[in-house]
Amino acid sequence: MHDFRIDAADKARLWAELIEAADALTAGEPDAIANMANVAALLFEALPDVNWVGFYRNVGGELVLGPFQGRAACIRIPFGKGVCGAAAASLAPQRVDDVDAFPGHIACDSASRSELVVPILGQDGALAGVLDLDSPSPARFDQEDEAGCVKLIQRLAGRLGAMAKAPPQG
Ligand code: SME
Repeated sequence: MHDFRIDAADKARLWAELIEAADALTAGEPDAIANMANVAALLFEALPDVNWVGFYRNVGGELVLGPFQGRAACIRIPFGKGVCGAAAASLAPQRVDDVDAFPGHIACDSASRSELVVPILGQDGALAGVLDLDSPSPARFDQEDEAGCVKLIQRLAGRLGAMAKAPPQG
């Protein structure tokens, strides 16, 4: 059992503490699924006002549901479909203030109003999957959340199924 007390008053501090806690939780563990499970649990517990936090993995060019916290969700998402699919296709974070205004949004949980999705990229540039954060409040995620989440994923990518090393040259 891990009991991380994270109740920082400001967001920059909150994300800094979350990154340290996620790093400690996954240190020395090579199993990406186990690490995804603990990171999803940590974020779901520590972040205020979220109703779903979890991972989709890149399995043969399709996003497949991974460890998560929240209501049961859709299992397979094609690249390019919805917010997660847009992150997978563009390899760029997607921050959506109003999911109802996002073309092709997949409403897994009808309570979700805003969403932040960050791709997990290896040093080889390949997509391992995405981290998806959903909130029942519109515009819940701001630039600081995006930056914090990107930093967390960059730090942990090698433990979340991404290639830790660049491919050999030549
Ligand atoms: N809303 C997401 C689908 C995943 S669920 O919200 C868990 C999307 O459009 O990518």
